[in-house]
Amino acid sequence: MIRLSGLAAALLILSGAPPAWAGDAASGDRLFRTQCAACHSSEPGRNKVGPSLFGVVGRAYGTAPGFRYSPASRDAAVVWDDESLDKYMADPKSVLPRAAMPYGGLRNPAMRADILAYLQTLK
Ligand code: HEC
Repeated sequence: MIRLSGLAAALLILSGAPPAWAGDAASGDRLFRTQCAACHSSEPGRNKVGPSLFGVVGRAYGTAPGFRYSPASRDAAVVWDDESLDKYMADPKSVLPRAAMPYGGLRNPAMRADILAYLQTLK
């Protein structure tokens, strides 16, 4: 029994890295409403306290039309892709130390993956 579970563990290790989180966009939509929508709209061109997040995946930081970004990070060279968005949601200051997004971060990786899957639908 012990040998068998040892073997199973070895096989798990050999099979390589765990699969990336497959986010659920419907759940991400709900999470977006509670976590982000107070400050962000998902509609094009509709800025609130934060810029519209329509089309955010693939665009560079600071390029939502008509939004006044914090001067301290206006020149930050961040392109929003899966990795940078995940990192930003987990800990905004780790990506943009001086940006004015008053959000503490979302520690749960599954919740971040769901929101990311939702953001990918905004195009
Ligand atoms: C309390 C308000 C608030 C909340 C909640 C909030 N944000 Fe923000 N967010 C902002 C502000 C303000 C900015 C603009 C920062 C700046 O000027 O640099 C911003 C910027 C961003 C940017 C950069 C956009 C761009 O155009 O480059 C992304 C991406 C982002 N937020 C994602 C999120 C996500 C995803 C959530 C939810 C998990 C969230 N934010 C929650 C206020 C908020």
